Amino acid sequence: MPLVTTKEMFKKAYEGGYAVGAFNVNNMEIVQGITEACQEQKSPVVLQVSKGARAYANHTYLVKMVEAAVANCPDIPIALHLDHGPDFETCKSCIDGGFTSVMIDGSSLPFEENIALAKKVVDYAHEHGVVVEAELGTLAGVEDEVSVSAEDSSYTRPEEVEEFVSRTGCDSLAIAIGTSHGAYKFTAEQCTRNEQGILVPPPLRFDVLEDISKRLPGFPIVLHGSSSVPQDFVKKINEHGGKMPDAIGIPEEELRQAAKMSVCKINIDSDIRLAITATIREYFDVHPDHFDPRQYLKPARQAVKDMVTHKIVNVLGSNGKA
Ligand code: G3H
Ligand code: 13P
Ligand code: ZN
Repeated sequence: MPLVTTKEMFKKAYEGGYAVGAFNVNNMEIVQGITEACQEQKSPVVLQVSKGARAYANHTYLVKMVEAAVANCPDIPIALHLDHGPDFETCKSCIDGGFTSVMIDGSSLPFEENIALAKKVVDYAHEHGVVVEAELGTLAGVEDEVSVSAEDSSYTRPEEVEEFVSRTGCDSLAIAIGTSHGAYKFTAEQCTRNEQGILVPPPLRFDVLEDISKRLPGFPIVLHGSSSVPQDFVKKINEHGGKMPDAIGIPEEELRQAAKMSVCKINIDSDIRLAITATIREYFDVHPDHFDPRQYLKPARQAVKDMVTHKIVNVLGSNGKA
């Protein structure tokens, strides 16, 4: 089937109590690792491209790689989405250039400006059959293009969501309930420790999610910053010359819980980066004489596939939902 929008996949996810994984793609091995897992698991998927990914790999390369994946995975719905669109022009360029979904990230703007920008993107996108994700509330964390300190982050205010959605006409809403971007989601001070001395992060604000869901019945909610930062990857990285002390993510049980509620899209990028880096670091340690990139990119691609399979089956619940 051709690239699809997220409309139908979110409707089914909402009704079925699961979420669709939205994975960031930056190169061929990542596209292949994700989509091979989805094809095998018969799972719908959102492949998302950030401004940084477009700068790194080039818009056309990314679109063509995703089109190749669509041809190779005829049985599953795949949406191509702009992640964290920073302005109208970037959204327009992706809408004109083959994307089926865009995010306009006006979350750092004042309420009225966020609405005005999102509405402008929605009007253009809908004219072209493309859906729009907007964001209310600010996640902490560091990405290529955005850096938000914990003090400047803020939970979504439930009392604002109905007005925001009705005035913008957006198709889904990203909210802030305690997730954040990157591999260092919480400081040790924000966490408690269990009996084994392992850091336990503060729980997500399910009360805020519930309040928002009640105000927007049937409306798809999106969670950014939802990598779990698997500790086996972190350990492997640190054992093979890396230095990622105190990397910590969102517990998978909490994401599973959110997926059963109104959360229809769960964004994962850092876990892909960790899977690749852990695998390649170990590979170089074990095979210091190898220099053919295919030798180490092959297990790295497999690690992405294994990680995505795990998410689909154990966190998202999207297996068999294609
Ligand atoms: O949320 C952001 C994604 O992880 C993309 O990150 O801007 O470094 O490509 P990036
Ligand atoms: P992570 O950094 O938790 O993987 O979040 C990715 C994301 O939200 C992309 O938009
Ligand atoms: Zn994000």
